[in-house]
Amino acid sequence: MPNGKFVYLKTFGCQMNVHDSEKMLSILAEHNYRPTEDIHRADIILLNTCSVRAKPEQKVYSALGRLERLKEKNHHLIIGVGGCVAQQEGERLLDRIGYLDLVFGTHNLHRLPDLIRDVQASRRPMCAVEFYDEVRSLDISPIPLDGEKVKSYVTIIQGCENFCSFCIVPYVRGREKSRPSENILGEIKALSKRGIREVTLLGQNVNSYGKDLSGGFTFPQLLAHINEIQGIWRIRFTTSHPKDISEELIMAFGKLEKVCKHIHLPFQSGSDRVLERMNRGYTRKQYMEKAEQLRKVCPEIGITADVMVGFPGEGEREFHDTLDLIQRVQFDNLFSFKYSPRKGTRAAHLLDQIGESTKSHRLQVLQELQKGITLKRNQALEGRYEEILVEGLSKWGEEEITGRTSSNKVVNLNGNPDLIGQLVKVRIEEGYANSLRGKII
Ligand code: SAH
Ligand code: SF4
Ligand code: F3S
Repeated sequence: MPNGKFVYLKTFGCQMNVHDSEKMLSILAEHNYRPTEDIHRADIILLNTCSVRAKPEQKVYSALGRLERLKEKNHHLIIGVGGCVAQQEGERLLDRIGYLDLVFGTHNLHRLPDLIRDVQASRRPMCAVEFYDEVRSLDISPIPLDGEKVKSYVTIIQGCENFCSFCIVPYVRGREKSRPSENILGEIKALSKRGIREVTLLGQNVNSYGKDLSGGFTFPQLLAHINEIQGIWRIRFTTSHPKDISEELIMAFGKLEKVCKHIHLPFQSGSDRVLERMNRGYTRKQYMEKAEQLRKVCPEIGITADVMVGFPGEGEREFHDTLDLIQRVQFDNLFSFKYSPRKGTRAAHLLDQIGESTKSHRLQVLQELQKGITLKRNQALEGRYEEILVEGLSKWGEEEITGRTSSNKVVNLNGNPDLIGQLVKVRIEEGYANSLRGKII
């Protein structure tokens, strides 16, 4: 490939997609493509897309619409769409958008340089959306392009086979496939040598880790091995499925000192009737018991979750069950969404869909409730001592640095940028709606 070309990449979607984007930039860097923030300078424009709800999907189409003019001005420009919308739509995207050059699915990242070369050679659009048994991109460890990084994502399992009735992910990410533990441990050791101090293990359901490997580690066993790696100070993971969270994993929060005291445990709804129709595999009682056990083993644990409103058939009563669960569990934070029917999923065919205005109203009520709980939980930390890993400069001004507590709360403080990458002891001065203010002691 020619020297000194530029790639502009925009990412939509979850951490998995963010990490896939890092992998793409890393592979392309090996082929002399440097990343640029300036879209007008780009030789290649890539969108890494998400189809989990209608909104992120629509954003992709509007972003594509804005690219048509650039293509008219520069016929050598290559525009590619990857990620979950690409996986779902495949050739249809090429039919729909005449100036698109490349569509590549979630199992085809590793082919990106070859695909680009083929497009350049043939001047014809290409589409690569096959699924493979061996997902090659699982083993790509991206080289951080911005040197100073303190933390890094590490993929441990790809795909999902849970088929929650609302969810597109199993269709666009394929079968569950765990990455061999020696590859994971090898990658993390290499990261620690490069100065990475915190790893976040990624998977649609990390608790399923190892089930498809014969004689391999379970997820808690994997954690125990990562806990032994020198130079790694903190271990996080996302996402856990409530039905698969084992006793052994709950105990890990008390036993493994590097495992951060935070769990993201989506509950989706507080109504048994809705949970059943969602095919989630647990009841509200079972969920609350898990949360209670976690707090028993580790009282400081931060618990966050995803929840949705307006799933088909959710009446006022079911919605109130959700509010009630929120009130009882007292989450540190919640990510809340309006249910959005996804083509090809079972819930999209249910007849009792909920109107948009009801969904909006419920979302507002739910978010108002959680806002109060989050603030209260943040304020409860005032006066407490916490250890934070300083991650970078704060957006709030000079001599301001930012980090996180073990429980994953953002702490801003006055301090020397030389502290970036170090663990510091702070006293929490104030708790706000979205962050804490701390003082180094
Ligand atoms: N693997 C993760 C979820 C990935 S999707 C897990 O199982 O927890 C992230 C979140 O998006 C989900 O937890 C859910 O709350 C939300 N979501 C997924 N499909 C959705 C849909 N059709 N409409 C609205 N929200 C959805
Ligand atoms: Fe979607 Fe359910 Fe799989 Fe999560 S566990 S990715 S919500 S199907
Ligand atoms: Fe979206 Fe795909 Fe992630 S649909 S949430 S980017 S797995």
